[in-house]
Amino acid sequence: MSKTLPKGFTIWFTGLSGAGKSTLADALVQELANRRGLAVEVWDGDVVRTHLSKGLGFSKEDRDTNIRRIGFVCAKLSQYGVINIAAAISPYRSVRDECRQMVGEGQFVEVFVDVPLQVVIDRDVKGLYAKAISGEIPQFTGISDPYEPPLNPEVVVDSSTETVQESLAKIITYCESVGLVPVSQPA
Ligand code: ADX
Repeated sequence: MSKTLPKGFTIWFTGLSGAGKSTLADALVQELANRRGLAVEVWDGDVVRTHLSKGLGFSKEDRDTNIRRIGFVCAKLSQYGVINIAAAISPYRSVRDECRQMVGEGQFVEVFVDVPLQVVIDRDVKGLYAKAISGEIPQFTGISDPYEPPLNPEVVVDSSTETVQESLAKIITYCESVGLVPVSQPA
């Protein structure tokens, strides 16, 4: 008798650098892997660029390649019951939609981390916005390079007005409501 695999899917965070994608990805791992014991893998842009996408830059072509690679591994692992969490700026709508097609409609949860540009400029966690504004870093998303917000994301969160736990709850509630993760009993 063949064993039925749990349903894999992909939670795809998109948003500006410093919006809070990696923080939310970490919080999701805590909840889904550590608390609920589900199989989870994270594909963080900064990390992927040190391995799978090493050597790629920030031209449209290189960003698209980076995102397609992440979409490809998410699609593969989704077939084996893994919950993939992608956290990359992924600024171009058409390539995000390609990833949605690769993973499969219904198994792709696009989460728009929608934070006002001025908020991420003021935070400037990595000191990159100051360099982008001065021109030291060219083609910086939101400053000198485009960011195309999603038109119909499954979930929208805003780390400038919500706590991490509030944003996390929105994402989990959505995933539970469509049957992607079992409804959890309160601890
Ligand atoms: S993406 O556009 O290809 O999706 P990705 O999420 O992998 O980008 O990497 C973004 C990270 O690279 C940023 O958080 C920032 O730390 C760094 N970075 C360096 N140069 C740039 C740039 N020109 N535009 C945006 N991010 C940059």
